Amino acid sequence: MIDFYDQLSPFYHLIYEDWEANIAWQAERLSRIIRAQWGEHVTSVLDVSCGIGTQSLGLARLGFQVTASDLSPEAIARAQKEATARGLRIPFSVCDMREAFRHHGGGFDLVLSCDNSVPHLLSDEDILHALQAMYACLRPGGGCLLTIRAYDKEARGRGIVKPYGIREEASKRFLIFQVWDFEGEQYALSMYCIEDNLQSGVAKTHVMRSRYYAISPHHLLELMEQGGFAEVRRLDDVFYQPVLVGTKKV
Ligand SMILES: C[S@@+](CC[C@H](N)C(=O)[O-])C[C@H]1O[C@@H](n2cnc3c(N)ncnc32)[C@H](O)[C@@H]1O
Repeated sequence: MIDFYDQLSPFYHLIYEDWEANIAWQAERLSRIIRAQWGEHVTSVLDVSCGIGTQSLGLARLGFQVTASDLSPEAIARAQKEATARGLRIPFSVCDMREAFRHHGGGFDLVLSCDNSVPHLLSDEDILHALQAMYACLRPGGGCLLTIRAYDKEARGRGIVKPYGIREEASKRFLIFQVWDFEGEQYALSMYCIEDNLQSGVAKTHVMRSRYYAISPHHLLELMEQGGFAEVRRLDDVFYQPVLVGTKKV
C-alpha cells in the first residue's frame, strides 16, 4: 500500500483532468458541507489521509487551519512541496490513520479522510480502530467527514476496467486506467500509467498495485456509530462521492 502511493505520487495529479481546478472545487464543496453540518466555528481541520494534498491545500487556502498526514512518505513530500509553492503553511507528517490520536493528539474541530482512503483498511476491525482514533482527535461536538466510493453501486467481477482517460503534459502523453479483480468483498487493483514521450518516441508503462475493501457506505456508517459518533448520516449529491458525517458527543 505504501509502495503504491509512493510510486503514484509523481503522477497523482494526472488522475484529474485539471487538478488545480479540482482542488478549488473540492474545497468549496467541503467548506459548504462543513458549515452546514457544524457551523461557522470550525477552524482546525485534521486530514488523516491527505495524499499529495488535494483537500488540504484547498481548505488551507480558504482559511482553515489544516494539519495533515498520510501513510505514504512520498505523497507527504510532494504535498509539502505543493503547499510551499502556493505559500500555504500546513504541518505535514507521515502517520497511519489508526495512530492519528497518538501522533496528533486531540482537540480538532474536524477530522477528514477523503477520496476512498478508509477502504484501504481491509477489515472492519482496522476501520473501527481508525474511526476510534479519529474520534479521540476531536473536541466534543467536533465533526468527522469521510468520502468513499459508492461500493453499494459498483459491479463485482474480474478484469473490470476503470479508465481515467488521456492527459498531456509538456511533451508527454499519459494514458491512465485501473483494473479491478474482486475476491469476495475485497479487490486487487492495478493502476496502469502509460507514459509516452511524444518527442523521443519512448514509452514506459508504470503498474502500481494495491487492495481495497469494498465496504458499503451503509456499513461504514454502522462502524462510525460503533466508534462512538452520533448523528451519523450519508449525504448524496453534495460531492463527487457519498459523504459520511458523524459528530463527537458533547
Ligand atoms: C485515493 S488516495 C486520496 C488522497 C487524498 N485524500 C486526495 O484526495 O488526493 C488515498 C490515500 O490514503 C492513504 N492511506 C491509505 N491507508 C492509510 C492509512 N492507514 N493511514 C493513512 N493514510 C492512508 C494513501 O497513502 C493515499 O494517499
